[in-house]
Amino acid sequence: MNAVPKEISQDIVLAADQLTKHYDVKRSAFKHGTVKALNGVSFELRRGRTLAVVGESGCGKSTLARQLTMIEAPTSGRLLIDGDDVAGASKAKIAELRQRVQMVFQNPFASLNPRKTVEQTLGEPLAINTSLSSTERAERIAKMMRTVGLRPEHATRYPHMFSGGQRQRVAIARAMILDPQILVADEPVSALDVSIQAQILNLFMDLQQQFGTSYVFISHNLSVVEHIADDVMVMYFGGVAEVGDKKTIFAKPRHPYTRALMSATPAIFEEDRTIKIKLQGEMPSPLNPPSGCTFHQRCPYAIERCRVEEPKLRPVDGRQVSCHRAEEVGEGEA
Ligand SMILES: Nc1ncnc2c1ncn2[C@@H]1O[C@H](COP(=O)(O)OP(=O)(O)OP(=O)(O)O)[C@@H](O)[C@H]1O
Ligand code: SF4
Ligand SMILES: [Mg+2]
Repeated sequence: MNAVPKEISQDIVLAADQLTKHYDVKRSAFKHGTVKALNGVSFELRRGRTLAVVGESGCGKSTLARQLTMIEAPTSGRLLIDGDDVAGASKAKIAELRQRVQMVFQNPFASLNPRKTVEQTLGEPLAINTSLSSTERAERIAKMMRTVGLRPEHATRYPHMFSGGQRQRVAIARAMILDPQILVADEPVSALDVSIQAQILNLFMDLQQQFGTSYVFISHNLSVVEHIADDVMVMYFGGVAEVGDKKTIFAKPRHPYTRALMSATPAIFEEDRTIKIKLQGEMPSPLNPPSGCTFHQRCPYAIERCRVEEPKLRPVDGRQVSCHRAEEVGEGEA
């Protein structure tokens, strides 16, 4: 493994630089196509903080999660985990990095093995990756169960014997048992009853306080994002529309798509209810991306330049935005 210079700040636990993922798909018996699911995504995750990733269905959130957790290898781009470059890392190093980045999925029913008890589910990573004795492992499991709000005497239960919220607690315990640096959570509360969602969100926040874990938290719900995030990344069509400090972005979004998302969630835009942007049409097909700005067919601010020139992510007003007109957005109607 190459010794990569720690060129990024010590406060940054994960850095993605132009991460790209393309999938080859069969369109018919003779025709192949390329789905451009992720196109040059760059951002930094601050240590001990939460970066929320938001965007419409199909914009590439789960694809991003699979690259960050090293379930898949990106087509191109760079991923640094605490200064370690994933590209070019040895198999042993990748195995070590995978331990440091854990994942919680939307649906704990699907992500937990129905034939394994909690004890087995939590015990396996400990048996594989630590030299703890079986007594020590049992102690660690009991402690972790208490930490996530489960009763240790339920360690011999199977997933179906728990409620949805409890099952997600088991999945969170499994992700946290090796004390990862980073947790990637892909819509971890959206399959739960609304009454349970706040409890699980609070659990995530408590765990972060206790262990200092850094989170990439994927959600399509801006109220959830407002509750849990320090930083926000808004994605559109496999790219970054806007990324930066949550308060800065929520106070004055500078990308027309961010404004559209927020005006669709009235509680967040209370001080500025008059601004409503109606999005026209659907997201374009990832097999056939539009020229220029990928948002131009739906954007009320679009000008001729947007049809031909792709906007680059650039600093505007205290955050990063990819829009030619970012300085004007939020300063009046389009
Ligand atoms: N393995 C794959 N092969 C081909 N295309 C894929 C694959 N995985 C994802 N895609 C495509 O990539 C795009 C991004 O999908 P992804 O699942 O990352 O979106 P998402 O933002 O997580 O959506 P959702 O909010 O619905 O979960 C979509 O067009 C999807 O169809
Ligand atoms: S670059 Fe143009 S089309 Fe794209 S978001 Fe900005 S104004 Fe709209
Ligand atoms: Mg998804």
